[in-house]
Amino acid sequence: MNRRLRALSGIKPTGTPHLGNYFGMVQPAIALQDTHDAYYFVADYHALTTGRDAALLRRTSLEITATFMAFGLDPARAVFFRQSAVPEVMELAWHLSCVTGLGLLMRAHAYKAALDKGEAGAISAGTFSYPVLMAADILLYDSDVVPVGKDQVQHVEMAQDMAGHLNAVYGECLRRPEASVAAEVATIPGLDGQKMSKSYQNTIEVFLGPKPLRKLVRSIKTDGAALEDPKDPTTDNVFALYKLVASQAEVDDMAALYRAGGFGYGHAKERLADALDAHLAAPRERYHALLADPSTLEDVLAEGARRARAVGRETLERVRERIGLPKLPA
Ligand code: ADP
Ligand code: TRP
Repeated sequence: MNRRLRALSGIKPTGTPHLGNYFGMVQPAIALQDTHDAYYFVADYHALTTGRDAALLRRTSLEITATFMAFGLDPARAVFFRQSAVPEVMELAWHLSCVTGLGLLMRAHAYKAALDKGEAGAISAGTFSYPVLMAADILLYDSDVVPVGKDQVQHVEMAQDMAGHLNAVYGECLRRPEASVAAEVATIPGLDGQKMSKSYQNTIEVFLGPKPLRKLVRSIKTDGAALEDPKDPTTDNVFALYKLVASQAEVDDMAALYRAGGFGYGHAKERLADALDAHLAAPRERYHALLADPSTLEDVLAEGARRARAVGRETLERVRERIGLPKLPA
């Protein structure tokens, strides 16, 4: 039985995507549609661990869909859908939680961080079991590779463990996935040099207009080296972002200017703003056009849901049979 490898990933609709999301997840995921069966979704169930605003959830789900399409997701090839359009994932999450020890969930980075802050008692049961639902997402679609940023690798490993537990109890019925993290985009730095993240308020949103984009780029933190000093391109945030959008020749050129001295961070930032704008201008235009036509986005999501659900139901039937549950109701 020869089938193409399957790539799967999800992204929460919790705000406008930033360069970390784009380079860490969106771009690598879209690239895989050429070589893999690609399944990508808006993780709207997961967004509910923090979100409480129904109108915002509806809007940001469409924004994420438009973002993927603006950057080249091809709905004729890739399956793109809302997580909640395949409620079977919830049932698989239940079966996984019945074979998963609390100890596994207590090792999750997010839970441990809450514990360190003395807030473990205050997190919701949904937040605590977030990794189980994520494992169900991955396993329901028989995924082989999961393109994500480095921070999500632990979750993919937990999905491997949970698949192993269920297979050990009921016999081999779930495929074990691998995370795929592109080394050069594992962690994109934010304005302050820490990992770019909404939680740190250090993001550069992907669809900012040219002026606000340039303004933000000018605010990127650099070391105190003076204009005339030689600079180290390997440790600088401006250079790290430039590498993502410039050609090899441009990167080599800027590295030489850094090392020679007489080239200031101000100059580097102008080049970075130009390069980012050149890279993002066309997708930005497509994004706004797509958002202006929500019914096309809904059509894409509906077709994606139909295709995803067919696959999800097959996996769940397989698991139910092993467990001793009746066939899914029609
Ligand atoms: P945030 O940290 O801003 O809340 P999310 O956790 O929603 O972002 O991340 C969505 C996806 O983007 C995940 O696959 C994550 O690994 C990836 N990602 C987020 N920030 C970065 C970053 N700074 N570098 C690389 N990948 C990232
Ligand atoms: N937890 C992921 C994030 O915060 C989103 C997500 C949900 C996901 N389910 C997934 C990613 C399944 C990959 C596979 O970014």
